Amino acid sequence: MYEVESHQAEGVNATSISKIDVLLAELDQLQTRFNDALNSATDTEALEQVRLVFLVRKGELAQFFKSLGELDASERPRLGERLNQLKNIFETTFAEKSSALAQPKDDGDFIDLTLPGIRRRLGSRHPLLQVLDEIKSIFVSMGFSIAIGPEAELDYYNFEALNFPPDHPSRDMQDTLYLDLGTEAESQRYLLRTHTSPVQIRTMEKRQPPIRIIAPGRVFRRDTADATHSPIFHQVEGLCVDEGISFADLKGTLQTFAQKLFGPDIKIRFRPGFFPFTEPSAEYDFTCTICRGKGCRTCKGTGWIEISGAGMVDPNVFGFVNYDSELYTGYAWGMGADRIAMLKLGVEDIRMFFDNDVRFLRQF
Ligand code: PHE
Repeated sequence: MYEVESHQAEGVNATSISKIDVLLAELDQLQTRFNDALNSATDTEALEQVRLVFLVRKGELAQFFKSLGELDASERPRLGERLNQLKNIFETTFAEKSSALAQPKDDGDFIDLTLPGIRRRLGSRHPLLQVLDEIKSIFVSMGFSIAIGPEAELDYYNFEALNFPPDHPSRDMQDTLYLDLGTEAESQRYLLRTHTSPVQIRTMEKRQPPIRIIAPGRVFRRDTADATHSPIFHQVEGLCVDEGISFADLKGTLQTFAQKLFGPDIKIRFRPGFFPFTEPSAEYDFTCTICRGKGCRTCKGTGWIEISGAGMVDPNVFGFVNYDSELYTGYAWGMGADRIAMLKLGVEDIRMFFDNDVRFLRQF
């Protein structure tokens, strides 16, 4: 059996395997090796190696072209056709691989220059502070300078020196938040200022007339928050003391301010009021800045918007700071800055100023 098989095998070789078949089989192997080499090339250096082995003028494929001359003329076209076909295949697949490797890989280093850029949002000044800045610059342009005082205040400045008698019911108007500082006696002395009026006293203690200051700042009251109330809010105090200062000066100052901030058609009106530290005292209103006086929802149909209180400095207050009340007179006002900012910006709920929701803040 062995011999027969062996003999037959030899016979097959001898009779049917010709030169061209060997060459074609070798070309198939060459194609396989080329494809393997190309597939495993992962960088341009490896690719260059593939080119040097298979594709250059002395490379493996080129060697086969020499074999054309060794074949019978009748067999040459068959090999020639296969060689040209392979040459084309090698060149196109090589070119494809080469351009694929030249593409940056999408592995995180890849930068897509067609993507829209990342927008950096600029922060901006809080809307309330924007309006406060405007209020300040109007008064500064009218000759007032800016004074400040502490938010944690002594009873003396918040009440006593402002002519609130001890245990007087007028202190109840203010819904005071006291600071818990140990002993009960101490806690009675420290509080969060309920208004900016203590800055009047602190200023007059330090300086002599003429005085013309505004004192913007935060104030605190024990109040439940709703659309028009907040336990923290802002006031702009005003104080002017000199010889011969009258209520007309107060009216002119507030009138000029209102028109500079809201427009020339805005008027101001005073109603009788009471504050321990001014005499006479008044509440004052501006023409409604929403309906310009016609009457609307914001002004509840009255055409006027309540702003705050004002008046002539009470001589008793001058007594606390050792000013000669025979020589000097003065006026003072308070101003609800949040209320003014709401009117100026069209904000209908005071809580918006304190929530710090960026969707709100971004609008200004
Ligand atoms: N401080 C007073 C208040 O908060 C307002 C005011 C200030 C009144 C100055 C008169 C003079 O209600």
